[in-house]
This record gives sequence, structure tokens and C-alpha cells, in this order.
Amino acid sequence: MKQLITARLLVREWEVDDAAAALAIYGVEKVARWLTPAMGEVADEASMRLVLQAWVEDQPNMLPPRGRWAIERRDTGEVIGGLGIRLLPPYEEDLELSWQLRPEAWGHGYAVEAGEALVRWAFTQEIDELFAVARPSNTRAIATAKRLGMAWVGETDKYYNLRLQVFRLRPSDLSDH
Ligand SMILES: CC(C)(COP(=O)(O)OP(=O)(O)OC[C@H]1O[C@@H](n2cnc3c(N)ncnc32)[C@H](O)[C@@H]1OP(=O)(O)O)[C@@H](O)C(=O)NCCC(=O)NCCS
Repeated sequence: MKQLITARLLVREWEVDDAAAALAIYGVEKVARWLTPAMGEVADEASMRLVLQAWVEDQPNMLPPRGRWAIERRDTGEVIGGLGIRLLPPYEEDLELSWQLRPEAWGHGYAVEAGEALVRWAFTQEIDELFAVARPSNTRAIATAKRLGMAWVGETDKYYNLRLQVFRLRPSDLSDH
């Protein structure tokens, strides 16, 4: 999937030159504290370029709907967030949808708008469910999962050795509009 267009956003593949904008997402504590321990908080633009380079190189080898994408505002062209779909460790059976927005872009419905477009595409790729996981105190992520139509399925510590709330989305959970 190269790109998706929504009313306000473009979801597209990452480029190494997105490093400055990406650092405003993955280099800030307010976002990074909720991400997987493996990702951590990116220290500077040079490190961000290396991360993006790895993502760009990985992308063609990831079996759809797996991948990582940037969220761009169509009106300003600025990159405000990222989206990912990956297999959850350690069993690598469940597909996880994740979202990250720079804090200045919170509170506008961008995660749900971009996420909905991505999952509609993902469900054309021979999958019938997607999961999202969030720490119990990550109220914003939990609210976004619910806004997307995801159903709460329970709490687990099987992923990442963290106590996490688990949400699941099936095609029938999406609204018809
Ligand atoms: C999780 C995260 C992406 C949610 O961001 P968000 O902006 O709250 O997400 P949403 O797209 O669901 O937006 C909902 C907010 O926009 C408001 N909003 C404004 N216009 C809207 C619209 N057109 N549609 C929907 N919501 C709208 C809602 O009222 C709500 O605001 P509120 O939280 O003040 O009640 C963000 O907090 C983040 O990046 N967190 C750190 C990373 C993280 O935890 N990711 C999840 C685990 S990977």
C-alpha cells in the first residue's frame, strides 16, 4: 500500500527525509513512554534517520497488511504521526495496529481517521481481525481503539511482558459509512 487519502490526511510510506518531523513524534517522552520497550525514545535527528532508513528498507519485505506509514496533514503537508501493523511478539500470530501522533496533533481525531482508512485497506488483505494493545493507564490510546470500533477482549501480559489491555477489530465492527 503506497498511500491512502482521507478527508484531512494522507497515509503514506515513510521517507528518510521525514526525520525532523518523525523526531517530533518518536523523540518526545509524551509519546515514547507508551511505545514498546524495544523502540525507546529516539535521541536526535541522526538516530531518527537511521530508524527511518531501517523502516524504509523493511517495508518491501513485509507481507501486507504489515508495514509502517506516516500520517501527513493534507492542508499543510506536515507529517504529524505514524501508523503500524505488525505481528505481536512472542508468538507472532496476532496482528497489532498501532498509532502515534505528535502531541500538538492530539485532540483532532487524526488517529481515528487515519487508523480507520488503514484498517479498511488491511481487511482487503485476507485477514479477518486486528488487535491493539495499550497499558491500562493509556487512556487516550484506549479511547482511540474504542472510537475505531474495537472491542475490549481482556487484559494480558503475554505480549512484551507488560500488563496490557487488548482490543480486537473485525470487519463487522466497522461502521457502514
Ligand atoms: C494514542 C494517540 C494516537 C491518540 O491521539 P488522539 O488525538 O487522542 O486520537 P483520536 O484520533 O482518537 O482523537 C480523539 C480526540 O480528538 C477529538 N476530535 C476532534 N475532532 C474530531 C473528529 N473529527 N473525529 C474524532 N475525534 C475528534 C475528540 O473529541 C478527542 O478529543 P479528547 O481526547 O480531547 O476527547 C495519541 O495520544 C498518541 O500518540 N499517544 C502516544 C502513543 C500511543 O500511546 N499510541 C498507542 C499505542 S501504540
